Amino acid sequence: MNKSEILLICTSPRRKGTSAMLLERVRAAIGGKMIFLPQSGSLNELVSEMQQAETIIISGPCYINTYPAKLIELLETASFTGGFSGQKIYGIINGGMPYIHTHKHGLTCLELFADKNNLSWQGGFILGVGAMLDGKPLEKHMSRRKVVPAFDQFVRYITSGKQSPDSLYIDVQSPPGKLMTYLFSKLLSSMVVKRIKKYGYDPEAPNWYLSNR
Ligand SMILES: Cc1cc2nc3c(=O)[nH]c(=O)nc-3n(C[C@H](O)[C@H](O)[C@H](O)COP(=O)(O)O)c2cc1C
Repeated sequence: MNKSEILLICTSPRRKGTSAMLLERVRAAIGGKMIFLPQSGSLNELVSEMQQAETIIISGPCYINTYPAKLIELLETASFTGGFSGQKIYGIINGGMPYIHTHKHGLTCLELFADKNNLSWQGGFILGVGAMLDGKPLEKHMSRRKVVPAFDQFVRYITSGKQSPDSLYIDVQSPPGKLMTYLFSKLLSSMVVKRIKKYGYDPEAPNWYLSNR
């Protein structure tokens, strides 16, 4: 694979976050040009770079159950422009939640984009609990023993130009059980309540949006 034909696009505004760390891990294996979408210039220029690439790898955080809006804008611009010719496209999405299904829409979105615009969808990798890494190496992930070999296998699929199966990331990340989910929700709720109080609001107050209709 010619390194100059690989385009890596990071869609997180955090240049040292988990999305960038995962993309750097891919780049360490196959090289390529890295672009930080939130800090990049014209979307039309980026679309032209995508058209010239042979393989495109997109990595980003999960924002409200899918990739950040700026990526959706890029995909829409690329779709209007057209001119793709079978470019291979892989996706990586990481989120704070310890689930696969809450982040899955990001990859589905890329797959639909590829199918409609003459690119070749090659699969992706979903990483739960990515927020706890906060850009630290994958070896610090709570499921590192299973997740690290799986992600490295994903990188090998990219390097050899093959399709990566969803089972690769699904099989290594089991969702927490009912008790853990309950405790986790209690913890998150108490953190939210604390913060609401910290800024001088009443957490028991009626919902502003509902009461002002
Ligand atoms: C505006 C916003 C929305 C988010 N929405 C979700 C979400 O829906 N699900 C989730 O699991 N994590 C969500 N997160 C957490 C990020 O996905 C998580 O912190 C991720 O690791 C950030 O990646 P980065 O370090 O590459 O920026 C959200 C974060 C922000 C700032």
